[in-house]
Amino acid sequence: MEKRGMWSSRLTFILAAIGSAVGLGNAWRFPGLAAKHGGGTFLVVYLLAMLVMGIPLLMMEISVARKFRRGAIESMRGIGKKWEFVGWAATSNAFVIVSYYSVVFAWVILMFVNSWQFANMTGDNESASNLFSNLTQITGTVEGYEIPGIVLLCLMIAWGLIFYCIRNGAKSVGKVVKFTVFAPVVLLLIMAVKGCTMPGAMDGLKMFFIPDLKALSDPTLWVDAIGQVFYSLSIMMAIMFAYGSYLGDDADIAADAMIIAFSDMAVSILSGVVMFTTMGGTGMLDNITASGIGTAFFVYPMAIVNLTGSGVFNAIFGAIFYLMLITLAVDSAFSIVEGISASISDKFHIKPKTVTIVVCAISGVISMIFVTRAGLAWLDIVDNWANIVNLILVGVLECIAIGWTFSLRKVLNEVNRNAKRFKMPFVWFATSVKYVSPVLLSGLFIWNMVNLFAYNDGSYGGYPIWAQVVAGWAISVLVFASGFIAKVVIAKKKKAGFVEDEIVWED
Ligand code: PHE
Repeated sequence: MEKRGMWSSRLTFILAAIGSAVGLGNAWRFPGLAAKHGGGTFLVVYLLAMLVMGIPLLMMEISVARKFRRGAIESMRGIGKKWEFVGWAATSNAFVIVSYYSVVFAWVILMFVNSWQFANMTGDNESASNLFSNLTQITGTVEGYEIPGIVLLCLMIAWGLIFYCIRNGAKSVGKVVKFTVFAPVVLLLIMAVKGCTMPGAMDGLKMFFIPDLKALSDPTLWVDAIGQVFYSLSIMMAIMFAYGSYLGDDADIAADAMIIAFSDMAVSILSGVVMFTTMGGTGMLDNITASGIGTAFFVYPMAIVNLTGSGVFNAIFGAIFYLMLITLAVDSAFSIVEGISASISDKFHIKPKTVTIVVCAISGVISMIFVTRAGLAWLDIVDNWANIVNLILVGVLECIAIGWTFSLRKVLNEVNRNAKRFKMPFVWFATSVKYVSPVLLSGLFIWNMVNLFAYNDGSYGGYPIWAQVVAGWAISVLVFASGFIAKVVIAKKKKAGFVEDEIVWED
């Protein structure tokens, strides 16, 4: 077998993990959720969810993969043969997610190249908010199958970039993250300066930071905070397994996971400052919504054309905004592919590069569905199920597998193996993995189902039911069945001479 590609330094690993965690979710979902849930109140609950759930689970994934030196599928088989399917589910769900995350990435590129158009739209809200629909020609319904050429071109650029960044696994990832992690922070800082110096910025900051205690009684606050922690840390998606598996024996996982989680949170807060001051400065605070795509492509363009009286300045600012989103999205997008590649190549002993090419090609073709005129509707459905069903159930299953059928002491020893200043305490880790996380996640899942069936008649977003069955339920079933389908394939391969690795946790 080829020698495993490893991170070239501690910093590379940390940056790659931060790059994955810090993504579009920080820029638009986080501020939107804060606006929805009384600003500061959301920040506090989010921090709490990060401590009791996010951080322990992040440490768990990284350390298990470092120990086994394998991606998600083989790492979960190492935990127990019957849990291999959880690794498959995480990997398949990642495959689903990258098929549309790449499209959102392409849209961001599309807006970046078209940001010069803001120059002629000063004060013209209507043209600004229509720009995205005009370029993509989206219908908002599940019908309309033409693909606008320019969007297809952006999609190809998106996939080209993704492939370029991960073509040599940890080696090439290590190089690009030095740029893709710092660039968005610099761009955000530039935008924060502009935002904070606008009249009205204070109103925005007040809304963002001052807690509104009334919001605490709303259960959706808790649900949204837990969901966001989960989504934001890129856990349960095969990614942190892959990244952990490239770690050397000397890595201090306890400290690194803390750095990753808190950097992720810091960027979310910085994005919040940008969003709230800019919206406050343009008198649009009421327009911030929790829907990321709506904010980035319809609402934010309106803020851009109202920033100043100078069209050229506004256009430059718009370009900075979308460039920031490009640099945020790219390292999240390629981390998903890397997670899938590591999983599959470890399982079947195929060269990582071959798997990467195949994964990019297949999901590249699938992603074309989402750039059709009906694409946004399909994306919305697939995204909803991937997040409210698949991701959460993988989380519950991982916690049960590792918390209840494996030794948490062993896992924690791995986390703390090289701990210097900060050691993860057993009570914190075990209580979280064994009880708090699975209970909270199950609660979240039940909440989502009650919401869907009891309050919305089992229908999401007003789309036709057949579309929800195809793009929602059917995909969820496939995601969780993938491990069992794979078993059949593996059994056949074994007859033909394929030998699975022996995976043991050596003390
Ligand atoms: N964590 C990323 C964000 O906050 C999102 C992401 C989702 C990354 C799926 C990878 C995979 O935007």
